[in-house]
Order: sequence, then C-alpha cells, then structure tokens
Amino acid sequence: MINLDGIQPFAEGGNRRCYVHPENSYRCLKVVIQNQSKKAKQDAPWYKKFRSESSFDDNIREQRAYAQRALKKDNPDKWKHLAKWYGMVETSIGLASETELIRDNKNNIAITLEKYLFTYGMTDEMQEALKEFESWLRSTLVLTKNIIPHNIVLGYEDDKIILKIVDGLGSKSYLPFTYISDFFASKYVERRIELMQSRINWDLTGRKGNWK
Ligand SMILES: Nc1ncnc2c1ncn2[C@@H]1O[C@H](COP(=O)(O)OP(=O)(O)O)[C@@H](O)[C@H]1O
Ligand SMILES: [Mg+2]
Repeated sequence: MINLDGIQPFAEGGNRRCYVHPENSYRCLKVVIQNQSKKAKQDAPWYKKFRSESSFDDNIREQRAYAQRALKKDNPDKWKHLAKWYGMVETSIGLASETELIRDNKNNIAITLEKYLFTYGMTDEMQEALKEFESWLRSTLVLTKNIIPHNIVLGYEDDKIILKIVDGLGSKSYLPFTYISDFFASKYVERRIELMQSRINWDLTGRKGNWK
C-alpha cells in the first residue's frame, strides 16, 4: 500500500485530489475527495439517483473510459494526447487511479490549458497545438466528455506544446452507437471539437453568457 499520509496534493479538481506518486515523480495518484460521490448523488437530478453510487465515482468512470475501443487498438499514437493509465492502486487515504504525471519542458508539473489561456491568451503556438490535438481526436476517435480547458494540460516534446487530456475521458452520456461505429464516433468527436472551441472562446472573452 502507498502511504500518502501528510503529503500535500499538487492540485485538486471538483472531485479528486492529485498527488505526485511518492516513489515515482512521473506518476500521478488521484483520490476521490471523500463523500464526493455520495454528495454528487444527493445533488443529482432525480432520474440519476437510481444509478449506483459507483457511477458517480470519477476513478471508476475513468477506468471504464480507458477501456474504450479506440484505446484497445494497436496504435502507438493513441497515447500522444492522453495521460497514460496504470490502473487502480491502494493508498492510505483510499483507492487511487494511477496515471502518467504530465510535466513541461523544464520538468515542472504541467499547467492547464485554462491557466495558459488566462495568462497568455490565444497564441500562434497554441493554435498550432490545438490543430494537432484536434486532428488526433479525429484520427483516433478517442471518446471524451465535453473537453474543458482545465482538464487539458501542456506537455512538451522538445520545445513544442503537446496538449494532453488528464480528465474527462469517456462518452458524455449513454451512447452505444459511438462505441460500435466509426461513423457515429466521428460525428460525436466532431461535436466535442466544436464545443471545445466554443468553450475556449468563452474563456478568452470573459465568460459571458452560456458557453454552449
Ligand atoms: N496526469 C496529470 N498530470 C498533470 N496534472 C494533472 C494530471 N491529472 C490532473 N492534473 C491536475 O489536477 C487537476 C485536477 O485533476 P482532475 O483529474 O481534473 O480532477 P477532477 O476529477 O476532480 O476534476 C487538473 O485540472 C490538473 O491541473
Ligand atoms: Mg477535472
């Protein structure tokens, strides 16, 4: 068992705390914030309350999402824009999902796309990185929920930004056809790209109105 007692998380999202693996500085351990899945269930609309509590646990949802068809294919490119997944491990503060910890070209923990946009705005460099990321989504057909800038971080290859998904993998809702057919998966992915662009513009223009 991995001991995380007394270790401070390096980041926290709405559901999970993220720690640097104490024995491997290139691995990230994510632990669901306690009672978060119970609370999510309490706050959910009535029709979602019938689902089991585990469907509200982000680590379990993520584990399922990493088992999707596009990631079973024998394509080395599939990890290019995605933090690798190493399974679930026990820690002293609960079950953790272990993933690749993305770092920048100076070996610091990567910043999010959201932080980048708020700091630098849109740049030629980022436009280029986004274009490449979008064409990867189209060619691999990796299914994601809505792609939100705080769930994307900036990794590097030499001095080039490589955007990496760290959260939000999986399909937005129960859409069986996207899992079976490339045709439906393409349509679904195209819509996620469109919504990602609209979310980025919303971030860049002071978040007025509804981003969708
Ligand atoms: N693999 C990773 N590499 C680098 N930073 C990460 C990684 N995973 C998460 N983070 C950071 O931690 C934050 C929260 O993680 P996330 O998985 O989005 O948690 P939540 O499920 O609570 O939204 C992210 O916004 C990002 O800043
Ligand atoms: Mg998140």
